[in-house]
Amino acid sequence: MSLFTKRSEAKTLEELHDEWKDCKQCPFYAQRNNVVIGAGNPTTAKIYVAGQAPAEEEDQCGIPFSGPGGMLCRDLFKQWRIPEEEIFWSNALACKTFKGAKIRRDWMNNCWERVEAELRIVQPKIIVTLGRPASERFCNSLPSKGEFRETKFNYEGIPGVTAVHPAILLRKKGRDKKKWQKIIDSDFELICELYDNFCI
Ligand code: URA
Repeated sequence: MSLFTKRSEAKTLEELHDEWKDCKQCPFYAQRNNVVIGAGNPTTAKIYVAGQAPAEEEDQCGIPFSGPGGMLCRDLFKQWRIPEEEIFWSNALACKTFKGAKIRRDWMNNCWERVEAELRIVQPKIIVTLGRPASERFCNSLPSKGEFRETKFNYEGIPGVTAVHPAILLRKKGRDKKKWQKIIDSDFELICELYDNFCI
C-alpha cells in the first residue's frame, strides 16, 4: 500500500496509539500487555529506525527499544554520534510475538498501515532497518537469502539502508562476538554515510 493511501487518519502518535491499541489482527493479541507503537519526537526526528518486535520489557512498558537489546541499539547510535532526539524508534511488529517465533510477512503486513502512518507523522529523512524481517519488508525483495545487510533502498521517496540487528551481540561471546562487532561497525559506517548525506 502506498504511503499516501493508508486508512489510518491519525495526525499524532497519541491518535495512532488509540487507533491500534485494541488491534486483534495477529494471533498474539491475547498474550500481549501493550501495543508498542513507535516512539520519539516527530518534530526533531530525522531517522526512522525499524527493529523487529517488542520484547518482554517493551511489552511491559509500551516503549520500543527499552529492554536490554533495545538499550544496546540506543547506546550504539549514541557511540556513532547520532543524536537521540533525531531518532524515531519503531518495529516491524507492534506486539510481542510468541517466544522464538520467526517473524512472518503476513504479520508485518497486518502492521504495515501503522508503520506507514508513523512515517507520515514523523516524515523522516532516512530509514534504518535492523534485522532481516524489517529489511525484507522495506526492500520488498533482497539480493540473496544469506546476505541482507548494507542494502540501500528507497521507500516511498525516503532513502534507507539495512543493517544487522545489533542485539545479536547479546547472544555472542569471545571471538564470535568480536566478529559480529566488526560487522555491526561496518553497517554503522554506512548508516552514518546516509545520515551525513541526508540529515545534516
Ligand atoms: N526492542 C525493540 O523494541 N525492538 C527490537 O528489534 C529489539 C529490541
